[in-house]
Parts: sequence; structure tokens; C-alpha cells
Amino acid sequence: MVSNTDIIGTYNGKIDLVRNLAISPFSRAYTFSDSIYEVIPFYNRNFFYFDKHFTRLSNSLNALAIEINLQKVKDELYELLKHVIYQNGYIYYQISRGTDPIRNHIQDDGLEAETFGYILEHDYKTQELNIKIVDDLRWGRCDIKSTSLLANVMGMNEAKKENCQEIIMHRDGLITEAGASNIFFVIDGIICTPALGNNILPGITREILIELVRSNGMEIREDKFLIDDLLKSQSIWLTSSTKCIAPVRKIVNLDLNLDLNEPVMNRCIAILDKEFKSNSINL
Ligand code: PDD
Repeated sequence: MVSNTDIIGTYNGKIDLVRNLAISPFSRAYTFSDSIYEVIPFYNRNFFYFDKHFTRLSNSLNALAIEINLQKVKDELYELLKHVIYQNGYIYYQISRGTDPIRNHIQDDGLEAETFGYILEHDYKTQELNIKIVDDLRWGRCDIKSTSLLANVMGMNEAKKENCQEIIMHRDGLITEAGASNIFFVIDGIICTPALGNNILPGITREILIELVRSNGMEIREDKFLIDDLLKSQSIWLTSSTKCIAPVRKIVNLDLNLDLNEPVMNRCIAILDKEFKSNSINL
């Protein structure tokens, strides 16, 4: 397990070691998961596509009507980045609606939003995954990057018992996404990924990869896909800010042969890796 003793963090704008931060149990993040978050990768101590993450953070805040000064949030994130002692890693950052005087579903007027974040070193290397397919038991607004992730947590921990590191979720056979990533697969040379909607988080890595794939003249289909479509695929991979592209080695509850050297997937890994290393610019 990772020790958190030396992790640098921030709480309401104050930078300190995470072990020194004190947060009230009446924080609505604690009692109701009334909070949103971002995971922003950095490489060579520079954020990767900061603006895309910041826009999604702002969209999540708007969707939940959490009010906060966005300039302060931006300053806090850049202040945290200044304290980075590693070359490569990510910042986890969450904003909750605030701390109630006493637990109450209906919040008091004028609560002050509460921020918490930390920096973690991360080795961005390609990692192959075992996957289990599970029912998508989540709520109806999975497009909001909320910290309410109970169904994801339940599914992923069930899958862990079968030596899986991730899950692919579906609603009545229709593929949504993975537990903490988006999904792509290749059918006869064409890259496929479920189209965005309320049931899918608009992943930043997903968006960047789609832009890169199109600008490199490769074919991609964003559409509705069924679990049965996975049976026709030669390769499957997941994308996220911490995984980049993670090829699927096997799906424990679906019988299919995946090619871990499939050329379209390898090309995607190469173009995203190049972008990651060349485009982590200091803003
Ligand atoms: N997870 N879908 C879900 C449900 C996610 O939790 C994530 C990211 C993604 C990919 O989004 P992005 O490419 O912007 O990281 C898709 C983060 C990394 C996490 O919870 O740790």
C-alpha cells in the first residue's frame, strides 16, 4: 500500500503534508459525496492539457451548482504544481459543497466550498489489464466527475477477486465505460468507442486520443456498441489520465482472442505517448 506520510497536499488553499490536514466529518464530501474531482497528469513537471481538465472541472461544478472562485482554484492547482518534487505524476483535486453545521440533505445557504488536493508520483508506462464485464449500476449523470463512485468501487473490488484490475460496464448489453477509464476497441481496422451521453464520463484522454486519431487519418466510430460487438474485436484498450492507453489482455467472463500486438492499437499507443511527452507544456 502507498504510504501517505510524505504526500504534499492542499486544503482550502493551504499547502501542507496531507497527514497534517484536518477536515471536518460534517464536510458534505464525507457525508453525501457532495463533491466533484479531477485527476490532472503532469510530465516533466508540466501539466498535460490543463485547460481541458479545468473546463471539465468547471462543467462538473456547474452541473451540481457548487459555487467557487475559479481563479482561486486555478491558482491553487498551479501552487500545488510548484511543490512537485517528482518529474512525472498527477494531482488529485476535489471540491466539495462545504461543511454543514450538522448533517442535513438540504444544505444551508451560503456554505463555503471546500477544496482538497494532493500530488502523487506516477510512472506512466503501458500496463496490460485483465477485465471483468459487469452490470452498470450507477446513477443517471455519470457525465459529471463526481466523487460518488460506489458502483464503480463495488464492481472493481468484485472483479479484483478474479485477478482483474478493471471492469467494463454495460446497461442491458450496451457498453458504457470502464470503472475508472473509457473503452476503445478495434473491429477490422476501425477504432470504435461508445458515444458520449449521460452514462459516460467525457474522458480527457479519450478526447485527446480521438483528436489525434482523426488528425492522423485513422478511422474512428463513436456510436452505440453492444457487449456482443466485443466478440468481433481484435484489440480492446482503456484510456485514462493515469493509465494513458492500457491494452486489455483478457476478459474473464467473455471468450475472445485479443491480439496484444494489434497494429491499430500499437499506433494509438505511439501517437498518444508522443503527444504526452512533447505536449506537457509549462503554461
Ligand atoms: N478516472 N471514466 C471514468 C468513470 C473515470 O473515473 C475516468 C478517470 C475516466 C477517464 O477520464 P480521463 O481520461 O479524463 O482521466 C473515464 C480517474 C483517472 C480516477 O478516478 O482516478
